[in-house]
Amino acid sequence: MIGIFDSGVGGMTVARAVEQLLPQYRIAYFGDLARTPYGSKSPETIIAYSRQNTEFLLAQGAKIIIVACNTAASVASEILQQEFPVPIFEVITPAVRKAVAASSSGRIGVIGTRATIKSGVYEKKILAAQSAYTVYSQACPLLVPLVEEGWLDKRETKMILRRYLQPLRLKQVDTFVLGCTHYPLLKDLIQPRIGKRVAIIDSSEVVAESLAVFLENNPTVEQELERSGQSHYYVSDVTDAAVDIAKKVFGRPITLEKVTSDIFGSR
Ligand code: DGL
Repeated sequence: MIGIFDSGVGGMTVARAVEQLLPQYRIAYFGDLARTPYGSKSPETIIAYSRQNTEFLLAQGAKIIIVACNTAASVASEILQQEFPVPIFEVITPAVRKAVAASSSGRIGVIGTRATIKSGVYEKKILAAQSAYTVYSQACPLLVPLVEEGWLDKRETKMILRRYLQPLRLKQVDTFVLGCTHYPLLKDLIQPRIGKRVAIIDSSEVVAESLAVFLENNPTVEQELERSGQSHYYVSDVTDAAVDIAKKVFGRPITLEKVTSDIFGSR
C-alpha cells in the first residue's frame, strides 16, 4: 500500500495523480475531516495529528507514506522522517525542485495556507537551492473554504483570487507554486490571473513523479507494495462537501470509509 494522508479530501488531488501515474499499486488514503482544517492550527497540533495519521496508515499496511497536506508537510514531515522507519514523501521538496528548474527570471510566487506560508518552508528550500532567487509568498486562507463549498467557478471566487494574486502578478513572477492540496482545483482560474505564460507547479503531480523515480531506484521497497485488492479512502468524518470534492477530483464516486481509531485519541 502507498499511504497518503491529508487534513481532509483535498489531498485526493495527490492520490489521483499517484493513481494516474502508478495505477498498478493500491492506495490507503486518510483524510482527517474530523479535525480539518490544519492550515489555521499550531505547529504542535499539526505535528501530533500527523504522527497519528502516519501510525494509522502503517497499521493499514502502508510501506510508504506521502504527506499530501502542504501544511502538515511544512511543519511535520522532517519529524515523521526521523521517527518512522518507512520512506516519507512530502509535496514540498519535489515542487521546489521543479519550480527552481522552471524559473528563468528567478522570481517565484508561492501560495498556501497561513501555517504553510508562516513556516517559510518554500522560501527556505528555494533559497537553499538558488540563493539569488526571490520568493514572493501569499497566504490565501479563503480559498480552501471556497473549494470545499464547490465554488469553483463563481464570480466571488474569481474576485478573491484576483485580490490574492494581483500583488504577485505585479512582482512579475515567472513560476508559481500551488502550495496547498485544494488549489489544483482552481488552476484554470489561477492561470489567467497570475499570467498566461507563468509556469504553474502543481505539487500533486510532482510528488507522484518523484515517487515513480524513487520506486524505480528502490526495487526492495517497490516489491513490498500491494498490487491486488482495492484502494481505500478512509476519513475521520464524512461530510457532503467531502463526498462532492472526492467525486470532482476522481471524476467518479469514491466510497469514503469512516474510521474511529484509538490512534486518534478521544474525540
Ligand atoms: N490540506 C491543507 C494544505 O494543503 C489545506 C486544508 C487545511 O488547511 O487543512 O495545506
